[in-house]
Amino acid sequence: TPRVLSGIQPTGDSFHLGNYLGALRQWVALQDTHDAFYCVVDLHAITVEYDPEALRRRTRVSAAQLLAMGVDPERSTLFVQSHVREHSELAWILGCLTGFGEAGRMTQFKDKSAKQGTGGPSVGLFTYPILQAADILLYTPVPGAGGQGFQVPVGEDQRQHLELTRTLAQRFNHRFGETFALPEAYIPKATAKITDLQEPTAKMSKSSSSPQGIIDVLEEPGSMRKKIMRAVTDTGTEITYDEEKKPGITNLLRIYSALSGSTTGDLERQYAGAGYGSLKKDLAQLVLDTLTPIRERTEKALGDEEQLDRILARGAARAGEVAARTMEAVRDRVGFVGRG
Ligand code: TYM
Repeated sequence: TPRVLSGIQPTGDSFHLGNYLGALRQWVALQDTHDAFYCVVDLHAITVEYDPEALRRRTRVSAAQLLAMGVDPERSTLFVQSHVREHSELAWILGCLTGFGEAGRMTQFKDKSAKQGTGGPSVGLFTYPILQAADILLYTPVPGAGGQGFQVPVGEDQRQHLELTRTLAQRFNHRFGETFALPEAYIPKATAKITDLQEPTAKMSKSSSSPQGIIDVLEEPGSMRKKIMRAVTDTGTEITYDEEKKPGITNLLRIYSALSGSTTGDLERQYAGAGYGSLKKDLAQLVLDTLTPIRERTEKALGDEEQLDRILARGAARAGEVAARTMEAVRDRVGFVGRG
């Protein structure tokens, strides 16, 4: 079976609708056809200012949400990145293969570093994409054995990091011999970029959206409904799918379509002549119907912390076996003396 790997940062006390539609729903679906590795990337979360106790809590809340959304620990390997030390180790080696200028061209670094406060951006924020490349390449299938179709389900904002990952894999293979299969970004177009409800040309983002612009997965129903009803819409009254002229309505139609299974064309017909308000009202209900059970299951999963930690420990053991095998080959190829 082909492999799939993805990661999500435990920033904030809840994932948001962009995470869910852009990536996490695909994680769940891909379990049926792939050998899946999914990790909560706590090492990435410390690249910006953070509070240790909040990180610990958010890592568990993140894992609980993934379980609640349908990540099945019997079929998939769900783990915490810092539990598998090889991630840091491979990141170091790949960092030595990355050009300084190459890392400096990452647009997410440029965006995020501009927002860092007093201390300025950390070196960790700069090398962040290299750690991401390590996350992925550790789980690379053995060359020649199912290397094809190694996919990484993510949103559009991760495309450049995936390209860097492929570049580094190719560079490593070229220099040290065929080691890594090349991963492919899996980015379904319809949900690749869910936008901010208040600023519909910008992506919905934990770090840059206002609270009114974001729908949290674990949000209270009342506040969720209000945010959708108050979403910025466009001039005119027609409900038409048009990213250029109607980014607000287009975003709502995309969310609606993803959650309902109707195409955006169907929705245009269904709401022909209806006002923005009726579209929003129905969408709010649909979002609530989708997220309420996830919120309830998250609470339940968090209620048994021991069980949650056991699931993560099992995931780490399984991920660790794969990562250890990859690193053995890597250490040998780069010229390190074996420990014997
Ligand atoms: P993160 O934690 O910011 O986001 C998790 C996933 O959600 C997607 N996403 C969106 N998709 C559509 N519309 C949006 N508005 C939106 N906002 C977020 C992201 O693209 C991502 O797929 N660097 C990664 C985490 C990571 C990773 C990895 C991913 C670390 N190692 C290895 C894949 C493979 C990140 O910060 O995602």
